[in-house]
Amino acid sequence: MTDIKELLLSRIRDVEDYPEQGVMFKDITPLLADPAAFTALTDALAEVAERTGATKVVGLEARGFILGAPVALRAGLGFIPVRKAGKLPGATLRQSYELEYGSAEIEVHAEDLSAGDRVMVVDDVLATGGTAEASLQLIRRAGAEVAGIAVLMELGFLGGRARLEPALRGAPLEAV
Ligand code: PRP
Repeated sequence: MTDIKELLLSRIRDVEDYPEQGVMFKDITPLLADPAAFTALTDALAEVAERTGATKVVGLEARGFILGAPVALRAGLGFIPVRKAGKLPGATLRQSYELEYGSAEIEVHAEDLSAGDRVMVVDDVLATGGTAEASLQLIRRAGAEVAGIAVLMELGFLGGRARLEPALRGAPLEAV
């Protein structure tokens, strides 16, 4: 394992049975509170954005905002928030997706993405992949291209990568 990976992993706190019984929550607040770790993470995610020729960064609410905004600035790109439905004031594109029980919806301002954009999605955790998959659908519906997805960590046992494979259409999914 690289030194950076080791540093980042050491700053993620596992919280048992949160938010519900049987779930191991990955708490990134210790990482955010450590400027060396937060900077290393920002640099690693920004490197993915630069390498894939992204022209915009999409962050997924809410922790994807905290990580995505500095990544966008570091890479010299605009930041676009993808929010849970009902939070954006302008004309939006909305995408629903299936959860284990029920469904959820996310939105983006329609004017923020268009043909000619190459978009990197940034988030903290890839779990089932449902949120990320819906964000790729939003990006394409806006006419933009997907540059890839960059996350801090992937919960491999939940199968998010396999679920995302068709939607990625060859674009990279990187856990730093
Ligand atoms: C978490 C996480 C990802 C998503 C991953 O966010 O930050 O965005 O779930 O899950 P998935 O791969 O199964 O879709 P959450 O919806 O808990 O929102 P929050 O960041 O606002 O707490």
